[in-house]
Amino acid sequence: MSSSSSIVGLDIGSTAIRVAVAQGGAEDNLRVIGLAEVPSEGIHKGVVTSIDDAVSAISSCLEKVERMTGSPVEHAWVGINGSHIQAQSSHGVIAVSKPNGEISEDDVARVVEAAQAVATPPNYEILHVLPRSFTVDGQAGIKDPVGMTGVRLEVEAQIIEGQTAQVKNFTKCVYRTGVDIDDLVLGILANTEAVATKRQKELGVAVINIGGATTSLLVCEEGDPLHAAILPVGSGHITNDIAIGLRTSIDVAERLKIDYGQASSSDVGKREEINLSEISAEEGFISRKNLVEIIEARLEEIFSLVDKELGKIDRSGKLPAGIILTGGGAKLPGLVEAAKHQFRLPASLGYPLDVASPLEKVNDPAFSTALGLVRWGLLRAESVKGFSLPKLSSLAKVVDKIKGLSKIFIP
Ligand SMILES: Nc1ncnc2c1ncn2[C@@H]1O[C@H](COP(=O)(O)OP(=O)(O)OP(=O)(O)O)[C@@H](O)[C@H]1O
Ligand SMILES: [Mg+2]
Repeated sequence: MSSSSSIVGLDIGSTAIRVAVAQGGAEDNLRVIGLAEVPSEGIHKGVVTSIDDAVSAISSCLEKVERMTGSPVEHAWVGINGSHIQAQSSHGVIAVSKPNGEISEDDVARVVEAAQAVATPPNYEILHVLPRSFTVDGQAGIKDPVGMTGVRLEVEAQIIEGQTAQVKNFTKCVYRTGVDIDDLVLGILANTEAVATKRQKELGVAVINIGGATTSLLVCEEGDPLHAAILPVGSGHITNDIAIGLRTSIDVAERLKIDYGQASSSDVGKREEINLSEISAEEGFISRKNLVEIIEARLEEIFSLVDKELGKIDRSGKLPAGIILTGGGAKLPGLVEAAKHQFRLPASLGYPLDVASPLEKVNDPAFSTALGLVRWGLLRAESVKGFSLPKLSSLAKVVDKIKGLSKIFIP
């Protein structure tokens, strides 16, 4: 296998760095041939805190997967996350260029570029422009205007931007490992590609990734992203709460969460006790009810912050395809039921779609961003190969083109 034919997704998280290597299979099936993870170093909340540490952690993760697949990683689709990333809505307007009023791909690219001209704060750079819908001569809700006739073309788009310094430090870490970046992709955007079906995205769905230091969400409707947010709380906060509440070390708190934790305390008996000496060098007994109540309280807070985001776009309790939970934090037993209850919506765990792999880890919710990056890469690679017309469902195509241009023309 040559390394150029494989697609690599690199997810640099606060808790772990994960990489997925795949080959495009028959139809849309991904053949995942390598998955590796190492504990994260030098990264906190998606922000680089030590370049050297981050480079060595990323390198060791890449080496691990290279041993598995037997070929070097030369380039990768890299996921970016972090509370410095923000999303805003934007609007672009242009006059259609052809005298007969037929809208061309160029017009679409121009109007999306016009939407980019929003007031981005000076220390921020645009990561994605996600066109949501077009308006042709006042007729709104158009998904693909190419070939239609009109004089005035408008677009509604979501702009995702990150702090320039953070983005630069982040890319520097990857380049220093000797790997080229195919593109930087917002983690939750890639994650959604892996776990949400086309139909769910049409109906209205929210993908929620509970990581170690962040919880990110993406709401899709009519096939396209409607709202994205990265909240600065994650499952690591649950661990911290346990350590403080039960006065244990962080390591013991983490073990308690993973071995004895669950999302709801209602079915935990008051007399259930955990013997600390069974899981650590620490002595003493802990009430399991107490432990689960601590977890429950923080989880409720995380969910209510997410629900507030849904409220901002008037989708609280209103998403027909419900909630899909992913990320390492989603492995907490009883989480799905707790989500159903708090969001008043259907909920499920996110499993990667259309993936063929002998590796068990493909179904680990913590790997869903790395797998999503690979799927994202596959979709982009196909669009280049096939020269297909830009469809909004493969929205980033137009945008990638523009990003490429701006990279060339803007110093
Ligand atoms: N079985 C489990 N039960 C509960 N929580 C778990 C379980 N396994 C892992 N976690 C938690 O998941 C979190 C890590 O999730 P993940 O690996 O998705 O984070 P990350 O991608 O490194 O972080 P971020 O996305 O915030 O940068 C940790 O806080 C960990 O305690
Ligand atoms: Mg993550």
